Amino acid sequence: VHPAWLPPEAFRALGSRRTVVQGTGLLVETVRQEVADAAARYGGSLRQPTTGADEPTEPDDLVLALTTGATVPAGAAAVLAELAAQTGQLGADGFALARRAGVTVVLADAAPGLLYGLFEVVRRGEAAFGAGFPVERHRPAMRLRMLNHWDNVTVDPVMGQVERGYSGGSIFWRDGALTPELSRVRAYGRLLAASGVNAVTVNNVNVHAVEARLLTDRLGDVAAIADELRPYGIRVHLSITFAAPVTLGGLPTADPLDEHVRAWWAKTTRQVYDTIPDFGGFVVKADSEGQPGPFGYGRSHADGANVLAEAVAPFGGAVHWRAFVYNHRQDWRDRSTDRARAAYDHFAPLDGQFRDNVILQVKYGPIDFQVREPISPVIAAMPATRLAVELQVTQEYTGQQRHVCYLGPLWSEVLGFGPWGADGPSVADVAAGRTADVAGPPVGGGGLAAVSSVGDDPFWTGHPLAQANLYAFGRFAWNPRLDPLAILDEWIDLTFVPTATGDPDRLRRTLHAIMDDSWRTYERYTAPLGVGFMVRPGHHYGPDVDGYEYTPWGTYHFADRDGVGVDRTRATGTGFTGQYPAPWSQVYESLDQCPDELLLFFHHVPYGHVLHSGSTVIQHIYDTHFAGVEQVTESRRRWAEIVDLVDPAVAARVGERLDEQVRSATEWRDQLNTYFFRKSGVPDAHGRRIH
Ligand code: GCU
Repeated sequence: VHPAWLPPEAFRALGSRRTVVQGTGLLVETVRQEVADAAARYGGSLRQPTTGADEPTEPDDLVLALTTGATVPAGAAAVLAELAAQTGQLGADGFALARRAGVTVVLADAAPGLLYGLFEVVRRGEAAFGAGFPVERHRPAMRLRMLNHWDNVTVDPVMGQVERGYSGGSIFWRDGALTPELSRVRAYGRLLAASGVNAVTVNNVNVHAVEARLLTDRLGDVAAIADELRPYGIRVHLSITFAAPVTLGGLPTADPLDEHVRAWWAKTTRQVYDTIPDFGGFVVKADSEGQPGPFGYGRSHADGANVLAEAVAPFGGAVHWRAFVYNHRQDWRDRSTDRARAAYDHFAPLDGQFRDNVILQVKYGPIDFQVREPISPVIAAMPATRLAVELQVTQEYTGQQRHVCYLGPLWSEVLGFGPWGADGPSVADVAAGRTADVAGPPVGGGGLAAVSSVGDDPFWTGHPLAQANLYAFGRFAWNPRLDPLAILDEWIDLTFVPTATGDPDRLRRTLHAIMDDSWRTYERYTAPLGVGFMVRPGHHYGPDVDGYEYTPWGTYHFADRDGVGVDRTRATGTGFTGQYPAPWSQVYESLDQCPDELLLFFHHVPYGHVLHSGSTVIQHIYDTHFAGVEQVTESRRRWAEIVDLVDPAVAARVGERLDEQVRSATEWRDQLNTYFFRKSGVPDAHGRRIH
């Protein structure tokens, strides 16, 4: 299995030092083991702390210690004093890092922080042991940093084992049972901890019959996974079905207000915590795409979420309730129903009605993880509810891990966006729980969640370069303000540089050339100006402009001979723009002010409409599709220049995927350009070949 961003060589700087680790407990033992393994490989040493006057015979290079210990190793005392003089706690996951008088010091109030501090030292490599630097305090922005696996225990003949999975089978489940390869689960937990993730769900949000029983008689399997992930500070959560009281409990109803139903959830949840004391909680997809939910009993989603929240509350658990609720059986002839409106229409009126251990998990856009969408207006509409923002690491709509598509820049835009304007709180602030300056009582945020991209593939993510997305998710959940290209640097420096067989600068430069702009490149050859869903129905790979146009799914582009786009204005359209606060409600409503990249999301315009860029809509479609294919072709050429510097297996896999990307991008270009040429009759201004 590929080591991803933790090759042994990434531990060279740490492993060649003299280190002392002080503290006790499971995660401190993990830290000790990491240091011991690295020291054994690179000639350093792990000193056992002595009690009393803790003076080593030789000075330590690195001290990793809990601030709560009775004694702190000598080299760390000055840093500890300096830290004590500063205000604010480090928190469970935080740590302080400093280098003073030739000693690098990591201090944490609790063991998880020590583990994160260790991985920060790994990330910095030799720089952690170079020139001195003053105390830095590191704390995660998000308390919950969660990956949702859409893994099934059994294999679905159509979807495969992992819904929207592009990396082989599940790493948790095999042949209908718990995987025999638990060491792989442990290795996964280690990678996640090094990126900052601290929570995982182990089954699909669409909960089928077998998977429903993970909650009850198959709980032992979940406990076994939790045992592997616990040493890396990762808590396990479960996706559950709202119908469980009926399907598992044999009750006549799952009505959340029924006393027997409440009692069943309470009893079942108690058993879960008896088995897994640090169980994280439940993730629920209810009344969505055929899943059961409270609507079936005439109850609200607050009623539904609260009964579960009440059950996990005594144990400190949380309920992640997904806001992805819409009518997936709509009539395409009905122009008044707008899927984009659905989550807000369902949930905004419920603000303030959820228990405080309910986290409403909202997809970042109002539709469904498209390559370009505006921010979901729900994010700005529920100041008295804990919100988590949901991203999609698995590349369902962004190339399915056959195309290079580094999502860091997309997520950075999403998280940095100000729903109330550039001066107000950002999306990341809402998820982190810092919205005190917005009307309503301040509440704790729900954190960041994302659909995982990992499977039992030897490279973890199918496309080796897609590992960067998984790494970036954890880093953004830790610090949403990080520069996406700096995250890419970190990933390259951990994953590729330590094992490079030559010129690391050339390697770095070329990987940046291929990856930095790859999301925008993907947008260019697939989704013009905010139109989404021109994909093949079902599997969602490759172009099919009208594939969803006359379906019940609510994802239309309305292209005709005169123009294209969805009128979502208040003046003449579905009124969706009215779900945004100022300034966006006006900006999106206005044809003049609407940003080009979202124009067709909000407006239906003629092909000759002139964009802010100066181009017309139709010419923009042609230009971007030609440019996108050229960029992909260039990426493939650039990759060929560095194959000699990387592991041959990686070189081969990436090469093969790039060939497919060129083929697929060409198909996208030709279908899109031909489709819009046939509709509009407008020729390409540059006379290029359109079929
Ligand atoms: C998308 C995806 C589904 C998934 C759903 C969800 O629609 O195609 O496979 O179940 O999102 O997020 O629940």
